[in-house]
Amino acid sequence: MPLSKEYILALKELATGAVLRAMGPPMENDLERLRRSVEGRIVLITGASFGQGEATARLFAAAGATVLLAARTKARLDEIAAEITAVGGSAFSYSVDLIDVDAVDAFARQVLQEHGGVDILVHNAGKSLRRSVYRSAERLRDMDAMVGVNFTGPMRLTLALLPSMKVSRGAHIINIATAGLWMAPVAPRWSFYIACKAGFDTWLRSIALEVRGDGIDVTTIYAGHIKSRMVATRWVSRTPGHTPEQAAHILAYAASRRPRAMAPRSLSVVRVLGVIFEAPLGHVISYLDSRGGETTASEAAYVRAMAKEFADTHPIGTGS
Ligand SMILES: NC(=O)c1ccc[n+]([C@@H]2O[C@H](COP(=O)([O-])OP(=O)(O)OC[C@H]3O[C@@H](n4cnc5c(N)ncnc54)[C@H](OP(=O)(O)O)[C@@H]3O)[C@@H](O)[C@H]2O)c1
Repeated sequence: MPLSKEYILALKELATGAVLRAMGPPMENDLERLRRSVEGRIVLITGASFGQGEATARLFAAAGATVLLAARTKARLDEIAAEITAVGGSAFSYSVDLIDVDAVDAFARQVLQEHGGVDILVHNAGKSLRRSVYRSAERLRDMDAMVGVNFTGPMRLTLALLPSMKVSRGAHIINIATAGLWMAPVAPRWSFYIACKAGFDTWLRSIALEVRGDGIDVTTIYAGHIKSRMVATRWVSRTPGHTPEQAAHILAYAASRRPRAMAPRSLSVVRVLGVIFEAPLGHVISYLDSRGGETTASEAAYVRAMAKEFADTHPIGTGS
């Protein structure tokens, strides 16, 4: 008898769950333990309007935290905050564009004024970009955006909030980096994304050594594939990955146990092999890249970006 479509889907889900549990980073499923770490604490989460950030905000609020949701899409943040409040949680929404340094400073001031400080700071907002270096040369404003959201914005926000975290004693910074930072050789066409994530990670690991004495812990999560809108392309969505809700439990593990770093367990082997065989692997990757070219999604994103740039520089009615 042929297996039904639903049965096959359920089997696939079970198998994916088992692979993720065995190979992925640990997850916190003991919500009482999470509650002990976050209840009554002010948790600021950037990038809380979608994906992993939204799911984390909902989970931490359910465990008794006061969550401050930050991102650009204010209407969406308001909706999420209202839903959290409706079920008895405590949430506040803030619109901020991490690319704009003045906006980041003003946002930090507002948070300090309204809440006195932050106990747990989750650097989750991020923007990824897969594009060849030659094409990137035509789109320098995308380079600035990548630097702002993945590097200078989070750095600036940390600097503004750190004094309040020092006073709080027992504060915690959680940064969402990418598993790509553990790869040697580095992935082609991801240069800006990887470089910005690496820059912020290095900066944070450096200051972690300075602030430890003030009771501030720092955890970096080298995240693997999360099934969010960031990686909504066809072939990636078919590979095993965490849903945003599952990924939120990885952040819960970080918040309740405070490890220095978390990464998919499977990566340790890849990391060692990558270092040992960096040169020959580099040749293979370079060859494959030269045969592969742009993906449909990155091609479409590039065309959209160029069309927008043209529209911005040739407004209708100017005759230019
Ligand atoms: N998805 C993956 O496979 C994967 C893998 C490794 C690491 N990560 C990292 O995981 C984190 C969460 O990503 P996700 O997968 O949940 O993606 P997502 O659903 O696209 O969420 C990204 C969040 O960042 C916010 N954001 C983007 N640009 C911003 C800006 N200029 N200022 C303020 N906020 C901004 C977005 O909100 P607005 O658009 O409303 O501003 C959104 O809430 C990111 O740091 C990402 O780099 C993801």
